[in-house]
Formats: sequence, C-alpha cells, structure tokens
Amino acid sequence: MNIYSVPDLYDAIHKDSSFDIQLLKTIAKNRSGSVLELASGTGRLTKCILDLGLDYTGLELSKQFIEVAKKRYVGQARFVLGDMCDFKLNMKYNFIFIGFNSFLHNLTLIDARNCLRCVYDHLEDKGKFLVSIFIPDPDFLFREPNTFYPATSFFQYKDSQCRIMESNEYDDKTQINKLTWYLEKNGEIMSDEYHYSMRMYYPHEMDILLVESGFHIEEKIGDYDGSPMDAESGMQIYICSKD
Ligand SMILES: C[S@@+](CC[C@H](N)C(=O)[O-])C[C@H]1O[C@@H](n2cnc3c(N)ncnc32)[C@H](O)[C@@H]1O
Repeated sequence: MNIYSVPDLYDAIHKDSSFDIQLLKTIAKNRSGSVLELASGTGRLTKCILDLGLDYTGLELSKQFIEVAKKRYVGQARFVLGDMCDFKLNMKYNFIFIGFNSFLHNLTLIDARNCLRCVYDHLEDKGKFLVSIFIPDPDFLFREPNTFYPATSFFQYKDSQCRIMESNEYDDKTQINKLTWYLEKNGEIMSDEYHYSMRMYYPHEMDILLVESGFHIEEKIGDYDGSPMDAESGMQIYICSKD
C-alpha cells in the first residue's frame, strides 16, 4: 500500500507536528500575494499561510490526500491535483515552497530538474522559493536490512495506542532509500505494509541543481530553529530567488 493513500493515518501520525511552522511563517510573512505549496498533502501547512493573510494554493499528487485538504479548507484555499515535476497553473506566485522532505520524492535527477524548472516558471521575478530536506545520514541509511526501527513516537489512531515501525533498504548507486512502514497497534505489529521511496540529495548536488535551474541561493539554513547550515546540520533548507 502507498503510505500517501491513507490520509487518516498520516494525519494521526502528524497531529502534533509543528516543528517547521515557525520557520515557514518567518519566511512567508515578508511575502505578499499568492503562495504555492508543492506536495501539500492533507494541508498540514495550509493554515499557517492563511493566517498570514496570503492566498494559498496546494499542489498534490495523492487523490485521497487532496480530497481531505479540500474538505478541510473549503472556500479558503485552492488545491490542485498534480505532479510537482510536471505542472502548469497559468499564474505566478510570490512564494513557492516544498516542505517536509517532499522534494526527496523526485527519485531521479531528471525529475528534480523538471520540478525546479516548473518552480522557476511559476515564480514571480521578485518571488522567493524555499525547499527543505534532510541531509543524508549514513547511520539512518545503512541500518540493518529487515530490521524494525521506530519511525514515530506514539500516537492515537482508531482508539489504539500506535506507532510506526520501519525498515529500509538503501541503494547507494541510485541514492534511493526504499522504506516500508508497519503500524504497531497496542504493542502488536500489523501485517499491512506501507511503501514509499526517497532519493537522497547531498548539499553539493542541491547547489548545482538550484544554480543550474536559474536560482540564486540567498540563504542556507541547517535546522528549523533558523541556524545556518554547517557540517553538523541535519537539515538543508534553501531560500532562493531568481538569478
Ligand atoms: C511528507 S508528505 C508532506 C505533506 C505536507 N506537505 C506536510 O508537510 O504534511 C509528502 C507529500 O508529497 C506528495 N507527493 C509525492 N510525490 C509527489 C509529486 N510527484 N507531486 C506532488 N506531490 C507529491 C505525497 O503524496 C505527500 O502528500
């Protein structure tokens, strides 16, 4: 099963996830006009943009997720079903962002370049683009295969205490990490498997991809607390403008 086909499970896992909201608000509050979020999911980040009085559009690939987001923000925000590496919305945005590691769903360099080209084409001349992904961590990628590791803390789902256990397999040639999630319900691991894959992007690759795609990197942030990116950082968060 695709993990992005079960919106109620995703929302239960992320009910209290607010780690990225303050940083996003700090960047977005200096923007005006229209905002586009790519891979907007069930709309977890929509409210913080609406709260700033900005127009919000979310673009999302999962039909199940976008249905939930549309119902949640009826009359307040626009949601479009689409692929972040191939879309045309006939308007430009003052701020475009791809949060919460979603850029890593571009599983090839071709997809990544196509995604960045679409962003460039939809960004106003004085607009800003934010992309936020983690820095590849060998301790995470090269774990024992076929072993379960906790992927989340405990959360309530369908009247049970749950958490997600995961296993992964990393291919260092393709740089793709294949993850399998299992729901642990009241201490027992359920048999359903949820799959997703992410391609790892190293900071030097992001530099090249962004600059080749016509962006000027204004700031590199290494954590959601806003600290600059350095050798110890866990995150790579880029604030870009058009070159
Ligand atoms: C980690 S979730 C993030 C969702 C939301 N932005 C959030 O912060 O909660 C990743 C999202 O990327 C979406 N996604 C994956 N590939 C995509 C693509 N090619 N185009 C658009 N969305 C995609 C998934 O369906 C999922 O909703």
